[in-house]
Amino acid sequence: MQAIRVHEGEVLAYETVPDPEPADGEVVVELRAAALNRRDLLVRKGIYPFPLPLVPGSDGAGVRRDTGEEVVLYPGLDWGDREDAPGPGFEILGGPRNGTYAELIAMPEESLFRKPAGLSWAEAASFPLAAVTAFRALFARGRLERGETVLVLGAGSGVSTFVVQLAAQAGARVLVTSSSDEKIERAKELGAEGGVNYATTQDWPAAVQELGPVDLALDSVGSTWQQCLDAVRPGGRVVVFGGTGGTEVTLQVRPFYFRQQSLHGTQLGSPRDFEGLLRMLAEARWRPVLDSVRPLAEAEAALDRMESGQHFGKLVLSIS
Ligand SMILES: NC(=O)c1ccc[n+]([C@@H]2O[C@H](COP(=O)([O-])OP(=O)(O)OC[C@H]3O[C@@H](n4cnc5c(N)ncnc54)[C@H](OP(=O)(O)O)[C@@H]3O)[C@@H](O)[C@H]2O)c1
Repeated sequence: MQAIRVHEGEVLAYETVPDPEPADGEVVVELRAAALNRRDLLVRKGIYPFPLPLVPGSDGAGVRRDTGEEVVLYPGLDWGDREDAPGPGFEILGGPRNGTYAELIAMPEESLFRKPAGLSWAEAASFPLAAVTAFRALFARGRLERGETVLVLGAGSGVSTFVVQLAAQAGARVLVTSSSDEKIERAKELGAEGGVNYATTQDWPAAVQELGPVDLALDSVGSTWQQCLDAVRPGGRVVVFGGTGGTEVTLQVRPFYFRQQSLHGTQLGSPRDFEGLLRMLAEARWRPVLDSVRPLAEAEAALDRMESGQHFGKLVLSIS
């Protein structure tokens, strides 16, 4: 089969590799599309130090070779028995196990779910990792209630587009931050009420507070924990799922406990979260936001665009 593999020295190659051999309980899926996540950049740079060469990619949709069923891939492996956190064997597809930038993939049968009706292959491949992360962050970890206000950092991020759409679908009021006024406008089209440009606003948490009390903030930037705590109301929650802006922070402890706030971490989502997401998708009037769709062979250009931060929504690779 043809696949993209990461080699030493951050090299990406589009090459012929052996077809995957399914183990017991696994089936081969003929992939029709894959999608990018920031994780793929970290794999390429060796920040996630998996053995190489490796086929990256956590998101995919395709056709089961054994039954012909059209499926999407749940990108977690071995979540484990607990709902509050994955077990020690947990992995995400695309490192160390070969991922979806390929024509074929062998997957555990329980990781395959019926492709949502009405979504194109590109749309179906675009949502699993980002949308299940958004779903768990909002509902399982953030405990978002109808009528509450949620703040989403970095409106342009692939995950953020799903956060905005899912939160709006659940009846929440949504605010965003972004480095781009244009992206804030696009977030409004997805259901956000307004936002603050963090690049041009000196004190963006104060500007967010002026838009009204925030019950929940979702932070994938990492370096912004203190600002998120400043932006949310007393008693409010911050859910963290990324470190795009840096992975070390200094926090003011006293205001945190005086204001009775809480801070939660989250990663991906459990199979049960994925099922909850699919139920919401089945009732949704929105569709995944695609920044662009390129052929698999052009994965490098897609990753470069993601790294540049110019994108809005998901970058997708079409396959065969
Ligand atoms: N824990 C998990 O399971 C999980 C799953 C998926 C993703 N993630 C993490 O979530 C983050 C987003 O992932 P993604 O795939 O959606 O990435 P992405 O599409 O590349 O998003 C990057 C966006 O982050 C925003 N950003 C960067 N610096 C910022 C800052 N200082 N303040 C506010 N926003 C800032 C920018 O938004 P603007 O262009 O709007 O300024 C940028 O476009 C990454 O850190 C990723 O590792 C975690």
